[in-house]
Amino acid sequence: MGDTPAQFVIDGGRPLRGRIEVSGSKNAALYTLPAALLTGEEVRLHNVPEISDIREMAELLRSLGASVSVDRTEVAIRADALRRGLPPAELVESTRASFLVMGPLLARMGEGGCPSPGGDAIGVRPVDVHLAGFRALGAAVTREGAYHVARATRLRGARVFLDYPSVLGTVNVLFAATLAEGETTIVNAAAEPEVAMVAELLRRMGARIEGHGTGIVHVRGVERLGGADFTVMPDRIEAGTFLAAAFATGGDLEVVGAVPEHLDSVLTKLREAGAPASATADGVRLRMDERPHAVQVQAVPYPGFPTDLHAPFAAALTQARGVSIVHERVFDNRLRYVGELRKMGARITTGGNFVMIEGTGPLVGSRVQALDVRAGAAVMIGGLCAAGQTTITHVHHIDRGYAHIVPRLRAVGAAITRTN
Ligand code: EPU
Repeated sequence: MGDTPAQFVIDGGRPLRGRIEVSGSKNAALYTLPAALLTGEEVRLHNVPEISDIREMAELLRSLGASVSVDRTEVAIRADALRRGLPPAELVESTRASFLVMGPLLARMGEGGCPSPGGDAIGVRPVDVHLAGFRALGAAVTREGAYHVARATRLRGARVFLDYPSVLGTVNVLFAATLAEGETTIVNAAAEPEVAMVAELLRRMGARIEGHGTGIVHVRGVERLGGADFTVMPDRIEAGTFLAAAFATGGDLEVVGAVPEHLDSVLTKLREAGAPASATADGVRLRMDERPHAVQVQAVPYPGFPTDLHAPFAAALTQARGVSIVHERVFDNRLRYVGELRKMGARITTGGNFVMIEGTGPLVGSRVQALDVRAGAAVMIGGLCAAGQTTITHVHHIDRGYAHIVPRLRAVGAAITRTN
């Protein structure tokens, strides 16, 4: 890598064709690393995507005293010598998932603290759900400078109602409850498959959890957890992004490893747009025979249409016939990609958290910026279906969520290169 920041250069207008394999889930993998802080035994993880967020989470765990080895998609963690104390602020700033060390540290060490987390600039991202959950389990929660700190000699199981089914909030409270004394019921829990998967990992470690993957999760606290060997689920958001790219380019793509049951909302919406997506023995295939038509999409918590696919789908819908509407109902600032797509000639207008997309056909190759991981995926899709050349800057945002994306897209026919 040179000193000049990397860019992607795309010669658009080529349909994606062939088979593309989906990586391990970015977000699910990010939850499995802090889970390993709940035990002194080794947790071995497979199918972890090779992305910067994982390397940063590994660094954070090391700063707490855990030993972490990362070898491509294999990660091994042993937290047998955790230090008491707060993680350094600079290690928790870049990814919001770093707030997930708080629940395990609280449960295992009696004290957990973290500054308000960072992550993408996609809206106000409070942590009140996490903190209220810790309080409900008997922790004293205070603010010490930039840090939120929770303390308890032993957490006590309780009925915990979450004000909002926050994904990270549910995982943090679940972590804490595994080692609490007695029974916890989490009401209004997030039902995302990534949450259910981390509960599966915790069960392998000896936790007693039922109802994960639904809005009501029961946990019976245990004295200690042990090691485990665990494979991270395929990334449904990456799979959906590839399907959006096939939709936009009029391609024929099989996304190998995609789990159709995790993509009900996406496959249904694709079919509604006249894009025949079907389950295959190995994943999901989308074969575009004709120009799709406009649809209306609402981004909501699972099993609804995922907010993380809002921007990639909005980019793809520029290619549909008619006027599409996307309504963002999870985050309040997820529409920044719109300005970048407009630079490419897209006819998009916004009002509140609504986006109206007039399907005009091919965009125009332009110089655009990846503003966050999913906004980055949106301009990449824009570039893949634009006439002429598109240059994308700030691609480190895309790298945060899509491992080795350039060679993988090239292998299915995209003319995309990375500079530097
Ligand atoms: N919220 C609260 N209070 C809280 C926490 C959240 O009001 O204490 C609100 C937020 O302001 C937001 C809504 O709840 O409006 C949803 O936030 P949630 O907590 O569910 O999101 P998250 O857990 O912070 C994870 C993923 C996001 C993904 C969302 C929703 C990670 C690191 N992040 O965030 O992923 O969009 O769940 O599915 O796993 C991405 O991958 O691009 C990404 C942003």
